[in-house]
Amino acid sequence: MTPPQTQDWINTWLTRTDWKEATLSQPTKESAADIEIPTKIRVRPVQLKKGGLHAQFESMVGKQVFHENVVWSDVTGKISDWMKVFRQALITYHGGGSVHVTISPKGKVSLHLKDVTAFSDDGQTEQNAVIIPSHNREKKYLLQEGTPIPFLIELGVMRADGTVTAAMYHKFRQLNRYLEFVQDVLPELTNHLGDQEPIRIVDFGCGKSYLTFALYHYMKIQLGLNIEIIGLDLRKDVIQTATALAEKLGWSALHFQIGDIGKFEFQGNVNMVVSLHACDTATDAAIAKAARWRSNVIFAVPCCQHEVARQLEHLDLQPLLSHGLFRERFASLWTDGLRALALEAIGYNTQMVEFIETEHTPKNILIRAVMPKKAPTNYKERMAIAKSKVHEMLKAYHVKQQLITYFDEMNWMKDVEQR
Ligand SMILES: C[S@@+](CC[C@H](N)C(=O)[O-])C[C@H]1O[C@@H](n2cnc3c(N)ncnc32)[C@H](O)[C@@H]1O
Repeated sequence: MTPPQTQDWINTWLTRTDWKEATLSQPTKESAADIEIPTKIRVRPVQLKKGGLHAQFESMVGKQVFHENVVWSDVTGKISDWMKVFRQALITYHGGGSVHVTISPKGKVSLHLKDVTAFSDDGQTEQNAVIIPSHNREKKYLLQEGTPIPFLIELGVMRADGTVTAAMYHKFRQLNRYLEFVQDVLPELTNHLGDQEPIRIVDFGCGKSYLTFALYHYMKIQLGLNIEIIGLDLRKDVIQTATALAEKLGWSALHFQIGDIGKFEFQGNVNMVVSLHACDTATDAAIAKAARWRSNVIFAVPCCQHEVARQLEHLDLQPLLSHGLFRERFASLWTDGLRALALEAIGYNTQMVEFIETEHTPKNILIRAVMPKKAPTNYKERMAIAKSKVHEMLKAYHVKQQLITYFDEMNWMKDVEQR
């Protein structure tokens, strides 16, 4: 049973609809010992196009992140259930205020209120209560529909009046989702830089470059950051088209180049490397370049996976691997797990996140790797453990994998100054 006090604060602070986010954290000791229980859950109201008001529950379980949309009427019940597991909740409101809840091991609830007032029983708000117009409860995209955005119009995503074309709506959502990920890593990018230094970004396998243009628009035009982007692709046609568009828009710090990821050379700092849906081992070539540059941030969404799928052998998994479809899916997950571990072995913090909803493509895992500004404690031991797990995986499944070959060739970055 949820302690009565817990239900009280939920009734007071979460049954209203002006909250922006609730973060549930600090699992109890017993829960923390269970690897299947999330370490943290972020809950955000979302207005779904079909289905109305929901809340999205984003759960961090180990290094994985899971999302679930819950109908509004079930949200407080679900939070109440989760509060049997957590000891803290932070609720923020659109008006800027917050409520910080802590629950002692004996179930005593303490509240710390900042710039918010409870609604009174008769449904009226007390003085200073936060009331937010309903439109603020809808999802606020970084690229807003209704505002004409030149590059989106040029790419056929928007019409001249700022409405998004039906055929490109999923692309519009994908671009926004991508920019949200970029927004999350901005502190990592801007922290590392001196005032004069541009943030350098290389987008490997940029293709038609929707995401590259979106990145430039967001960072340079919207945020006014000093950035330079290079988009690289094997295909001459896409590079010519993208170059022409960058020129038309007058975007002088956005350059496109024809070339192969593996052969690309750049002298100077590269702060962020992006490789979205590049084929098979092209992702490994991109990650290896990024590692060599000690890029602060790496975003990789791997695409097709053939290298490992061809080799995988494991007696216990034989019934599963005998099906081509399972072999391919398993190989993709296995390879991405290995890539994440390998990145940890050279000092990155990695996370696997869903890039877009699976309804559009099964190739939706984003490997997000961030080099922490300050080396965490025990980082050398952690790196060594990750590296030995990499080799255990290769041995157990009788596999050679391209990223590991690159890292072996680079002596696991030992030549690069250790922090
Ligand atoms: C599926 S498209 C993805 C385009 C874009 N990044 C996106 O996510 O919308 C993959 C692109 O990667 C490029 N590519 C694949 N291997 C490459 C390599 N070794 N070097 C450079 N580009 C490569 C292909 O030419 C293609 O344009």
